[in-house]
Amino acid sequence: MTDDEKLNLMAGDDLVGPLRAADDPAFRAGTVHGVARLGIPDLHLVDAGSMGLKQGPNTALAAGLSLAATFDTRAAATAAGVVADEAARRGNDIILGPATDLMRVPQGGRTFESYGEDPLLAARMGVSWIRTVQNAGLMAQVKHFPANNQEANRYGVNAVISQRALREIYLPPFEAAVREAKVATVMCGYNLVNGQPSCSNTALLSTVLRKQWGFDGFVVSDWLAAVKNTDGSLKAGLDLEMPVGAFYTPPLLRASLNKGTVTWSDIDRTLTVRLRTMFSYGMFDRPQRANTGSIDYRAHAVTAQKLAEQGITLLKNNGNVLPLRSGTKVAVIGKAADQFRSGIGSMYVKPVSTITPRQGIAARGGAGAVTYQDGQNLAAAVRTARNAQVAVVVVADARAEDADITCLTLKCAGAKDKTLGDQEKLITEVAKANPNTIVVLQTGGPVLTPWAAKVRGIVQAWYAGGHGGAAIARVLYGDVDPGGRLPVSFPARATDAPAAGNPAHYPGTDDKAVYAEGIFVGYRHYDTRNLTPAFPFGHGLSYTTFKLSNLKATRTTVTATVTNTGKRPGYAVPQLYLGLRAAVGAPQPPRQLKGFSKMLLVPGQSAKVTFSLDARALSYWDQSTQLWKKAPGCTKAVVGTSSRDAALSATIC
Ligand code: BGC
Repeated sequence: MTDDEKLNLMAGDDLVGPLRAADDPAFRAGTVHGVARLGIPDLHLVDAGSMGLKQGPNTALAAGLSLAATFDTRAAATAAGVVADEAARRGNDIILGPATDLMRVPQGGRTFESYGEDPLLAARMGVSWIRTVQNAGLMAQVKHFPANNQEANRYGVNAVISQRALREIYLPPFEAAVREAKVATVMCGYNLVNGQPSCSNTALLSTVLRKQWGFDGFVVSDWLAAVKNTDGSLKAGLDLEMPVGAFYTPPLLRASLNKGTVTWSDIDRTLTVRLRTMFSYGMFDRPQRANTGSIDYRAHAVTAQKLAEQGITLLKNNGNVLPLRSGTKVAVIGKAADQFRSGIGSMYVKPVSTITPRQGIAARGGAGAVTYQDGQNLAAAVRTARNAQVAVVVVADARAEDADITCLTLKCAGAKDKTLGDQEKLITEVAKANPNTIVVLQTGGPVLTPWAAKVRGIVQAWYAGGHGGAAIARVLYGDVDPGGRLPVSFPARATDAPAAGNPAHYPGTDDKAVYAEGIFVGYRHYDTRNLTPAFPFGHGLSYTTFKLSNLKATRTTVTATVTNTGKRPGYAVPQLYLGLRAAVGAPQPPRQLKGFSKMLLVPGQSAKVTFSLDARALSYWDQSTQLWKKAPGCTKAVVGTSSRDAALSATIC
């Protein structure tokens, strides 16, 4: 390669693709043109994650948070299969996902894209997703490395995090992506971590990612503002600047080469890892993929709907108000009931087709049995509710990239979307008029539910994708058991949430957010502080009942039996939590998720569940030696149906 050829490959070079309308099939997040003389192909990068492909109308799958709620790595593989197929048929090489940053605060604008608040759950889902994408011949891009946990001040915030919290909470999904799934590419984020921009962070990119984890793919910057300098980024290990060069431009690189602050071997190193990865993905052995758009959207819609059903989480079902019986007179209420709800930003997928909850419920319940009011006129909504046997109020929040939500109640969680209004009032007024009120939440994260006691049923449907309305209807009518469990805790009060009440911790002051809570994130926080969440992590009801029995626990294996004791087939999601003994200077949360399993059991059926434990599962990050260390003494093992259910417990010594 000539020097010019090398320098021209250091950054993306297409601003037209990303500037097209997102529903234009020629829209593309980024392109790096190759070198025709040498047969180096173009590299096409598409925004795609758990929710589908942002490149014109495509299959809109349920949100990442819904996928996490399936608690099923097979579901992650199925979702990834749909995304990989569409990405390939739209001519792409790299999928800019999955997003495995954890939810640190419930306000997070991109919480809907994430796999929730627990590192093990996020790691397991991410590994399965990445493996499937990469087995299909596309490169995945795990993002945003690391600790890109808030949208407030996202370009400038410096996340100040202890090594222990990084290693135990924020890094494990990335570590698993590298070590287990052999992810091809990593996206460094906009934020700084411990004073260094993520994309020029030597400690993270060079020491942790490459030296300690053995990453041999290439590091790509988040779009534009993530790169803050030329020399520091190149030396630290940023391999490609996207979507176009601001710091990796030929003139700036030449200036640095002339000064000697970077060398040709730095450039060669980064191009070597990139080209080697492209070789290993067969890019030199086949023609460039074309954007044919020949996609079986019908088949994908069926799959996407089944996945959404698996993520729908039944939070409350007093007196078995659900499932509904066909023919029941149902009033569907709320603007969100007749909309396609999704998060906004690089993970907004324009759906090929939609079935709204109103349409889904009307089709399933029988048109004559279902009435609708959008709730804009409260009196009319109340009248409609009063005249029905059951009222289903469908509400939503409005999460988006580049901004966190500022309010966690349904009074204003839809603040960015003026069509939604005060949905809390809508719920309470409808609940007064109809004792059989069910609330369906289409939210991209936790919301406050002070009205929970007033309603009989609560169904968390997340952003359920294009045909989410049909999935919601099938769960409401019991055609399928609600498969989901909460991948995030729902706080009882905003002030209970991690990092609440201290602006220095969140959203940060002077461009600094101090992660003072350390490892006590999500349920680890609520449990340690003895705060009762409105709905705990791991919670989700079934239409049947289960019994757990027969716990046996050793240092390597924990087994239990789960039995369907009810009258319907249903999904059981037994979860293993360990309580490690604290060491001096290393406090431990009462419980940490160490295994989960999902199975469909028919009435009377029992199954044995086996959780394997490795040394890491019994270890913590020791700040003084900067190494993993086995926790002292005995460990408490709990198997239950949520982070707050201790159905079975044993001690491992
Ligand atoms: C987002 C990335 C995304 C990229 C390309 C950025 O603003 O943070 O997640 O992949 O844009 O659209």
